[in-house]
Amino acid sequence: MPIANGFLTPEQFKMEQFSELAVGYCPSCHMVQLTELIEPSTLFNESYPYFSSTSRRMVEHFKGFAQEVSQRFGADPFVLEVGSNDGILLQNFARPGCRHLGVEPSRSVAEAAIQRGLNTTVDFFNEETARRLRAQHGPADAVVGANVICHIPAIRSLLAGVEIMLKPHGLFVFEEPYLGDIIRLTAYDQIYDEHIFYFSAVALRHVFDEFGLEIVDASPQHVHGGSMRWTIGRKEQHQPTPAAERLIEREIDGGLTEAGTYQAFAQRVASSRTALVQLLEGLKQDGKRITGYGATSKSTTTLNYCGIGPDIIDFISDTTPAKQGRFSPGRHIPIKPYEAFKNHYPDYALLLAWNHGEEIIANEGSFLASGGRFISYVPTARVLEPSEHAVGPR
Ligand code: SAH
Ligand code: TYD
Repeated sequence: MPIANGFLTPEQFKMEQFSELAVGYCPSCHMVQLTELIEPSTLFNESYPYFSSTSRRMVEHFKGFAQEVSQRFGADPFVLEVGSNDGILLQNFARPGCRHLGVEPSRSVAEAAIQRGLNTTVDFFNEETARRLRAQHGPADAVVGANVICHIPAIRSLLAGVEIMLKPHGLFVFEEPYLGDIIRLTAYDQIYDEHIFYFSAVALRHVFDEFGLEIVDASPQHVHGGSMRWTIGRKEQHQPTPAAERLIEREIDGGLTEAGTYQAFAQRVASSRTALVQLLEGLKQDGKRITGYGATSKSTTTLNYCGIGPDIIDFISDTTPAKQGRFSPGRHIPIKPYEAFKNHYPDYALLLAWNHGEEIIANEGSFLASGGRFISYVPTARVLEPSEHAVGPR
């Protein structure tokens, strides 16, 4: 696979980097994770093109996240965010009476947050960074993160850092794509170089235990195709809700602690590929014009795994300026601004940002009215009915 967020210029085609993308399951600690890793500084740097604030629904979602965390604060709180990107979550803590700090290694997106007046340090969060930040700013009431904790390969250094930063009664609250949803929806495109871990409660309990931490709450979130918000605290400092225990029972009943579940998943992934390729090739043979909607990192897995290139998809439209004018990793499909879609509707739009399906479909009434149709491949490859709004899980 090429680098998932490595959108390139034609001059870069020849030097494109490829690596093996494979996932392993550990029967002893139950963690599901990538087996081959790319150096984080190759992925997260001044060229990183994923700007979180492109989805209005996610902006709203993170307002709710901040409100939930803030309810637990005492006086004069301090919040540290890991992976604060362009400030989509952090902005909600930048208010009188609350101190905030974002730790974000990708300068491209960190600069966007700094320009919005948000305190941001351009760094990777780890044990060493935590020691420095603790000395400079004191301990935090909350360490928060979203779609970042599963990106950090040195999970023990990360947790040691969290432990250093937190006040005795402080909370570590983060949310990430949830393994149970990935398996349930055959959402194999969640598997790419940045997503190192695919978290479950059984695996997290195991690793937190080493650091004297425990799951205080686990709350499902209807974003990014099914996420879990994990609230973590020091042992014996909080009264855990029954949610985590129940989730562990459901995971065991649902087979997340059995290798056979992952073997069956692999078979469904292969069938999903066959179905999508057959659908797209059939439409192409009928002379239909197809474009891609949303140059997601997830789609790098889908397009490369399925062998879908510019012969099938004319271009991918995306609202992110940093991706426009570039080409998709591996398959080199042109990325164009949203207007390229809007000004000349295709017959079909492959919903590569299926996790934002509700928001996108609600915005694209005139495309549907023109006779255009969306194609999704999660949980199965199909043309969506105009009335079919829910693409992800409920
Ligand atoms: N929290 C945002 C961004 C998610 S993308 C959201 O949910 O939309 C992942 C972000 O984590 C990127 O901005 C990346 O630069 C950052 N990141 C990766 N490794 C990190 C690390 N070790 N410490 C802090 N941030 C990291
Ligand atoms: P996303 O699915 O959030 O993440 P990932 O890269 O982790 O798979 O990416 C959404 C992409 O889709 C992002 O590049 C912005 C783009 N997008 C649009 O072009 N239009 C839209 O209406 C939305 C919601 C997103």
